[in-house]
Amino acid sequence: MKYGHFDDNSREYVITNPRTPWPWINYLGNEDFFSLMSNTAGGYTFYKDAKFRRLTRYRYNNVPMDNGGKYFYINDGGTIWSPGWKPVKTELDSYECRHGMSYTKIKGAKNGVEAEVLFFVPLKTWAEVQKVKLSNTTKEVKKLKLFSFVEWCLWNAEDDMANFQRNFSTGEVEIEGSVLYHKTEYKERRNHFAYYGVNTPINGYDTDRESFVGLYNGFEAPQVVTEGKPRNTEAHGWSPIASHYIEVELKPGESKDFIFVLGYVENEEEDKWESKLVINKTKAKETLAKFDSVAKVEAALAELRLYWDNLLSIYTVESGDERLDRMVNIWNQYQCMVTFNMSRSASFFESGIGRGMGFRDSNQDLVGFVHQIPSRARERIFDIASTQFEDGGCYHQYQPLTKRGNNAVGGNFNDDPLWLILSTTAYIKETGDYSLLDEMVPFDNDETRAKTHFEHLKASFYHVVNNLGPHKLPLIGRADWNDCLNLNCFSKNPNESFQTTENKSGGTAESVMIAGLFVVYGRDYIELCKKIGKNDEAAEAQKHVDAMVETIKTQGWDGEWYLRAYDYFGRKIGTNEAEESKIFIESQGWCTMAGIGLEDGMVEKSLNAVKERLDTPHGIVLNNPAFTKYYIEYGEISTYPAGYKENAGIFCHNNPWIIIGETVLGRGDRAYDYWQKIAPAFREEISDLHKVEPYVYAQMIAGKDAFKPGEAKNSWLTGTAAWNYYAITQFILGIKPAYDGLQVEPCIPAAWKGFKVTRKFRGATYVIDVKNPNGVQKGVKSLKVDGKDVAGNIIPIMPEGKTYQVEVILG
Ligand code: BGC
Ligand code: NOJ
Repeated sequence: MKYGHFDDNSREYVITNPRTPWPWINYLGNEDFFSLMSNTAGGYTFYKDAKFRRLTRYRYNNVPMDNGGKYFYINDGGTIWSPGWKPVKTELDSYECRHGMSYTKIKGAKNGVEAEVLFFVPLKTWAEVQKVKLSNTTKEVKKLKLFSFVEWCLWNAEDDMANFQRNFSTGEVEIEGSVLYHKTEYKERRNHFAYYGVNTPINGYDTDRESFVGLYNGFEAPQVVTEGKPRNTEAHGWSPIASHYIEVELKPGESKDFIFVLGYVENEEEDKWESKLVINKTKAKETLAKFDSVAKVEAALAELRLYWDNLLSIYTVESGDERLDRMVNIWNQYQCMVTFNMSRSASFFESGIGRGMGFRDSNQDLVGFVHQIPSRARERIFDIASTQFEDGGCYHQYQPLTKRGNNAVGGNFNDDPLWLILSTTAYIKETGDYSLLDEMVPFDNDETRAKTHFEHLKASFYHVVNNLGPHKLPLIGRADWNDCLNLNCFSKNPNESFQTTENKSGGTAESVMIAGLFVVYGRDYIELCKKIGKNDEAAEAQKHVDAMVETIKTQGWDGEWYLRAYDYFGRKIGTNEAEESKIFIESQGWCTMAGIGLEDGMVEKSLNAVKERLDTPHGIVLNNPAFTKYYIEYGEISTYPAGYKENAGIFCHNNPWIIIGETVLGRGDRAYDYWQKIAPAFREEISDLHKVEPYVYAQMIAGKDAFKPGEAKNSWLTGTAAWNYYAITQFILGIKPAYDGLQVEPCIPAAWKGFKVTRKFRGATYVIDVKNPNGVQKGVKSLKVDGKDVAGNIIPIMPEGKTYQVEVILG
């Protein structure tokens, strides 16, 4: 069953039933100021960092679900309703939510009144704009009472949910005209406050939650709204909120617009005050003035649209299948921007408190984002590299506000350093800008310990070389990509985290996955060294990569597939000899991508084993058979019930590794089949089962051993976004940025007659028409640029500013 439909022309998903199987959300904001917005207007807002600068409060895992947000209440002669159905839940005469590129439009109608709310964060603005349009479609005059509502969070979202002995006494507000200011803690250590204003005089307000909602009411029936009368309260401690009250009279057929602005301001120390204890509101007023008319708001929205037009014009495909086109042209790229912005911090599954920007996560996110805004990718690469140590190791995550590494989710994940090679080479291939390699980048955020960025890559490479175990495979450390394969942990204490606890020292557990990863990114490192004339270094690195290939063949092969790891005691993991979890996806992915043993049939055997043992109708599971009991020596992986998360769930992040592996073999039919199974737009019809949004990937779909196979969780913030974008655009459609041009290497289903990709690359536009007259899956027979034959499969870099027609014949 579906709950809406795609509107590709508007680049929107249109939800027509508010009772989605889970809140289906969107993100507003592109750089510093963000909101999460569900289809019923639930969610919250923050500046840069969802933990340290939370503007509005949100209660995760609430009852009912997704309670709390940016609410409007309409009291129409005693009938009370909200345009997004929630929180009041009065049955609406019509409802529609359009999630678009960085904006959401929610429209509801009741008894001849239509209310449309547009929510967005204008570019370069620290504020969310909400345009409310009320229309009277009846033949009578309508006298409406409109109430807005947001609940302030006391900045630190973690403390806000925990420290009530203090928090109930700290809240402070100011009220001036139609603007309600939230200034808790401003007088001491904060230089920031928030505000919520509207571009029209108001007839009242409330800033104290208890007075507005009523101590024993819920958001569905605030007492002020049911009574139809504000109390004009000024909050002192307890829970500050902001609610405007506006009396609206609409003649038959008349519409009125109201523009609300929810914003954030930072003041310099010397400019903090207007007068004693009165905050300096200049900046807030400037922002309010920028959006005080419909024309200004529409212009800002048009600017936002243009911004997305540009971003989404860089890679577009026409394949003949609208589901594929909308994934590649719209939604997957959009999700990649969101994961770039958020890493794994704030979603409806990530609370914005526990996890900041992940070292491995943010590096991987860049392969889905670098073509969009390379300058931001460049800056991010440095932010990440700055949290590395001289030996190549790194903090596992850093806080977006401070950009400082923290140990909140542990360290010593030995795959981490290698991902920096992926992001850096992806950046150079996209832009041709090698200059970032010479930039001085600190270690451990300490400027006095800076070295060139190239030295960071070198440190990454040698971190593996310098940390090999008894089989000469990479030591796994706390874990590799799979955070839950904790081979040195041995945890018996439920009060400790598998990621931060390392009970047994001196462990020699090794990872075949890191070994494969090392071969792939080691080769990239070598290629880069050669490009910049570091031939001695390239030759030295080559020896280590060659040795690793041999080691995998001898120590990392189980006979029919690649082993996963060696445990603390040097015993094999992911072997046919085991009772449970005989085979794992990660090492099959990385070793097939690396083509290890291709000539000996190892790649084919491994991928056939994946097909036979891991493939399901909903995607490829992580391991099989699932663990059914706790293995203290394996850690968190065996804590999950069978079929969920890392224990035999369909981890959509690593399905593309197999997809790319299949393209190494040239099996386009299979690669595409795997992709379709997890691509959300292809799962729209089973939204009831899939549960989360049909427009963005989820991290996990329950596997075949699960209670409910096919049910997805953890949508939005997942490496799945970047990896699937990378797999479909660069390995299936096969248009790959390379150092010296645009490489064309499609691997497609044999039945495809062809497809067309338009790619903007280094200042020129290439219209690439791929034809498949002989029904092959892979192989470029000829390539012509503007009618001229080009040898090989790389479109050379052409002069900027022009469009080139490229004809590619497969065969
Ligand atoms: C999850 C992993 C996640 C890790 C983060 C685990 O509980 O299963 O997917 O990467 O937490 O610390
Ligand atoms: C989610 C984490 O964000 C990512 O870093 C990790 O690789 C996967 N889970 C697998 O455990």
